[in-house]
Amino acid sequence: MCGIVGYIGEKQCTDVILSGLTKLEYRGYDSAGLAAFKDKAIETRKFKGRLQILDENIKHHPIESTMGIGHTRWATHGAPSDVNSHPHTNEDHSIVVVHNGIIENYLELRERLSKNGYKFTSQTDTEVVAHLLDELYRGDIIDAVRQMLSIVKGSYAFAVVCKNEPDKIIGVRKDSPLIVGLGKGENFLASDIPAILPYTREVYLMQDDEIVVCTRDGVTVYDKDGSEKPIEIFHVTWNAIDAEKGGYEHFMLKEIHEQPEGIRKTLHYMPEDKDEVILGDVKITKEDLQRYNKVYIVACGTAYHAGLIGKYLIEKYARMSVEVDIASEFRYRNPIVDEQTLLIAISQSGETADTLAAMRLAKNNGARVMAITNVIGSSVDREAQDVLYTLAGPEIAVASTKAYVTQLVSLYAVSLHFGLLKGTLTKDEYIALRRELYHLPGYVQRIIDLDKKIQNIAKEHKDKEDMYFIGRGLDSYVCMEGSLKLKEISYIHSEAAAAGELKHGPIALIEEGTLVIALCTQDFLFEKMLSNIQEVRARGAYVVAFSKRSNEAITKEADETFFIDDMPDDITPIPTVVYLQLLAYHFATERGCDVDKPRNLAKSVTVE
Ligand code: G6P
Repeated sequence: MCGIVGYIGEKQCTDVILSGLTKLEYRGYDSAGLAAFKDKAIETRKFKGRLQILDENIKHHPIESTMGIGHTRWATHGAPSDVNSHPHTNEDHSIVVVHNGIIENYLELRERLSKNGYKFTSQTDTEVVAHLLDELYRGDIIDAVRQMLSIVKGSYAFAVVCKNEPDKIIGVRKDSPLIVGLGKGENFLASDIPAILPYTREVYLMQDDEIVVCTRDGVTVYDKDGSEKPIEIFHVTWNAIDAEKGGYEHFMLKEIHEQPEGIRKTLHYMPEDKDEVILGDVKITKEDLQRYNKVYIVACGTAYHAGLIGKYLIEKYARMSVEVDIASEFRYRNPIVDEQTLLIAISQSGETADTLAAMRLAKNNGARVMAITNVIGSSVDREAQDVLYTLAGPEIAVASTKAYVTQLVSLYAVSLHFGLLKGTLTKDEYIALRRELYHLPGYVQRIIDLDKKIQNIAKEHKDKEDMYFIGRGLDSYVCMEGSLKLKEISYIHSEAAAAGELKHGPIALIEEGTLVIALCTQDFLFEKMLSNIQEVRARGAYVVAFSKRSNEAITKEADETFFIDDMPDDITPIPTVVYLQLLAYHFATERGCDVDKPRNLAKSVTVE
C-alpha cells in the first residue's frame, strides 16, 4: 500500500525518485507525486493515474534539485484525484509530507485544526499531519515530528521535509515498512529495498517508533524519546536484476517462469545428503511439539490458500490438530490461544497488517509464533520467534505465484520436520517423500513449456464472464487459489467449489456453455471427480480437466484435458497450480487487462 522514496545527495533527485517509484508501483498506482527543493522553496507535482503521467510531466518541465520525496498511492481516504495525491503540505507549502498507512484519529484532528483556522484542500488523512506539523513547528522539524507521533494514532510510514531546514529528510514508521539506504554523500528512504538497489546495497531496516534523519553526509536514528540509536547495517545480497522484468512482458510471467528455481532453492531445507530437515532459524524442539495442543495457521489472500494445504500436511505427517484462519477474522474472533498454542503466520511481504495483528494477539496470549515469509527484515520476520524464509526472491506482480509455491515447499519441510521430531513419520518415509519433492522443479518446468496450449484455452473462452473451479481434497484448495488468481487479474467472476458441495448449491449456476475447470489429481478421489464432471456436463458445462497422466479415462469425460506427471497425491498442488496461474495470466492478457497492476489491488496490504 503506497510507496515512498526520499533522496538527498548530489544526483538529480527527480531521477532517483521516479526510478524508485517505478520499483514500488506494485504497492499502489492510483496516483503519484513528488516534492523537490528548488531555489529555497519546495516544488510539488502530483497527478491522478499512473506514475507515467508524473514522469512525462517531469520530462517536459524538469526540476533542478538534489533533494526530495516522492509517493505512489493506493487510495484509502478520498478518491484517487490530483488533489488527494501525495505529497501534502501545510498552507504555505513549507512542510511537506508523504504517507503510507492510515491515521485513525484524523477526523478528530481535522476538526480541531479546522477550528484553529487551518484550511484543508483534500479528503485525505495525510493532510492532517501536514497541518499538525505546522502547528507544532517551533523551528525544529525533528522535534515537531516527535511531538506529532504522540498525537496521531494508526499505522504509518512518513517522509517529511521542511523548507526552513533544507538539509534533511525525516522518516518515521509504525506498522508500515520504511527502510534507509546508505550511500556515499547521498542517502535514501524507501518503502522497499528494490527502490534503492541501483544505488546502494547497505540498508538500515527501520523499527517501529524510530525517527530517522537523513542528510547528505549521514543518517541518524533516534528512538521515540530522542536518544540516538546505533545503526545495524543489513547488506542486501540479491540482485537488482531479480526485481526487473528481464525481457518478459510482465512481472507475473517472469515470476511464473522463476518457479522451478524458487522451488529448487527452498528444497534446500531438506538436504539430499542428510536424513533430516534443517530449518535454520526454527528452534522448535520435540518437547515443544509435545506441549502444543493446537496449531493455528493465519494468513491473508494467497498465503491463506497455502495455509489450507499446510493444515493437511501437518495433520497428516505430524498428527497435530491445525486450524487455518484468515488473519482479519482470527484477530477479531477471540480465539483460544495460550502457552500450548503454536501459531504459524504465512506472509510473502511480511508486512500485511492483519497478519501482524494476529501474530501479536497470539504472542500476547503466550503462544509461540513462527513465520514463513519471503522478506528478510520485514515486520513479520522481526516479530516472530522462529522464521523460515521462502526462497522465491523478490515478488513484484500483485498476483502472487512463486511466493505461493515456495510457501508450499516450506510447508512440506515444516510438516515433515515436525513429523520426524514427533516420530509420526519414519526416516524411510521421509526420504521417499523428499525424493519425490526433488522432482518438482522438473514437473513444473514441463507445465511452463505447455504455455501455448494454455493460451489457446484463454483465447477461445476469453469472453466468458463466469468460471467455476471444482476439485476434491487438496485439489479443492488449489481451486481456491486458481479462482482467486483469475478474478484478481482478468476480472472474470469465478468461484471455487469443493466438488462434493456442487449439489448443495453451485450446480444451480451451471448452464449451457459454462466453463468449468476440474482438478482431478487425487487418485483416491478420481472416480468421484468423474461423476462430478458428468453432472456438470449433463447441464451443459464445457469442462477442462487437469489430471495425472496415468488417469487417461478422464479424456473420455472432459472436453479438454491437461496432464501432470504421475506423482504422489500429496505433491500435486504445486504443478497443478502452475497451470492455473498460466490460465489466469492468459485470460488477463487476452482481455487486455493490466496484469501486473490489477484494478483496486496492491501487493502489500499494510492497512486493515
Ligand atoms: C495482497 C496481495 C496478495 C497476497 C495478500 C497477502 O492481497 O495482492 O497477493 O496474497 O496480500 O499478502 P502477504 O504479503 O501477507 O502474503
